[in-house]
Amino acid sequence: MKAIVVYSSKTGRIQQIAQAMVQVLPQGTPCVPVDEMPSDFSNYDCVFMGFWIDENQADPKGQEALKKIANDHVAIFTTMYDDPYSDQASKHLRSAVELLKPGSGVVGTYITWTDKARYMYEPEAGEDLHLDEAQSFAKNTVSRLKGN
Ligand SMILES: Cc1cc2nc3c(=O)[nH]c(=O)nc-3n(C[C@H](O)[C@H](O)[C@H](O)COP(=O)(O)O)c2cc1C
Repeated sequence: MKAIVVYSSKTGRIQQIAQAMVQVLPQGTPCVPVDEMPSDFSNYDCVFMGFWIDENQADPKGQEALKKIANDHVAIFTTMYDDPYSDQASKHLRSAVELLKPGSGVVGTYITWTDKARYMYEPEAGEDLHLDEAQSFAKNTVSRLKGN
């Protein structure tokens, strides 16, 4: 199982989430900002793609990256201050999925919540980013792909 984690992060939450996820993914899984992502994902069995919600959609760098990703097994993760269980959140995810290169497949989605009182600032030390839940998402996604 060869995976990669790519992310777009402004204030650092998605970066921390991406870095936590890579700890439970197969040893050697790269974790790179979208500026450094490869141009070809065909060597990977699974691509974890993270971005933040900005003005009710994936952030601009995240959108550009999504448009360049082609893979059968893309797992999307994001963070937002609105209710992650809202219709709005589903629409944000759907819009992001539709940006992927045609023919790509989505194997999972994960949203974590950012405190609206804090969203303009970098995360405080000890701010709860629910890293354990992100790690469960990453582990479960890989496990399902392996057919376990
Ligand atoms: C300029 C700006 C606009 C945002 N717009 C939205 C939004 O429309 N909806 C939402 O749920 N969250 C919104 N957020 C919250 C971000 O998704 C949240 O702060 C997230 O933690 C940022 O991720 P990052 O730390 O990885 O950059 C916005 C944040 C910023 C800074």
